[in-house]
Amino acid sequence: MISFPQLPEGTNVIGVGIDQIEVSRIRESIDRHGEAFLSKVFTPKEKTFCMDRKDPAPCLAARFAAKEAASKALGTGIGKKFGWLDLEVEKEENGQPYAVFSDQVKPFLRQKNAGSALLSLSHLDGIASAIVVLIKK
Ligand SMILES: CC(C)(COP(=O)(O)OP(=O)(O)OC[C@H]1O[C@@H](n2cnc3c(N)ncnc32)[C@H](O)[C@@H]1OP(=O)(O)O)[C@@H](O)C(=O)NCCC(=O)NCCS
Repeated sequence: MISFPQLPEGTNVIGVGIDQIEVSRIRESIDRHGEAFLSKVFTPKEKTFCMDRKDPAPCLAARFAAKEAASKALGTGIGKKFGWLDLEVEKEENGQPYAVFSDQVKPFLRQKNAGSALLSLSHLDGIASAIVVLIKK
């Protein structure tokens, strides 16, 4: 059997995560729990950005997926080590999203030797997706 190293030698990539979510799940959570759900999962900037859209749900769902994808890239899932508000999706002027980690999670990222994350988002009417690539410090 051929075995492969976990990471190619010399790479700066230290993790990858992907996630998809039904937009209807986010829509239902907003309808049922409103601000309590929004402020548990999304930063004020993320909320403002998405709530300004005609239909905020796909935008919020993509950000939800980004947080779960980052938690997979880190190998933690969403929990005590890495929470919903530990990754914020911000936007370049050209529309490209980028990831900003919270100050609280920085010690854990240092421990993981993670410096930054690349991310890409996609949303249809029904499904939102995100992929995150974790880069070495
Ligand atoms: C890890 C987590 C993000 C997985 O997401 P999910 O939506 O439950 O499931 P998905 O179908 O997207 O992903 C499942 C895959 O994630 C991967 N996965 C599971 N735990 C993982 C971990 N710790 N690190 C990396 N990848 C992991 C596995 O490959 C799994 O597929 P498999 O079991 O077939 O191998 C999820 O368990 C989690 O932490 N969710 C937070 C849930 C929560 O708090 N919800 C409340 C909403 S307010």
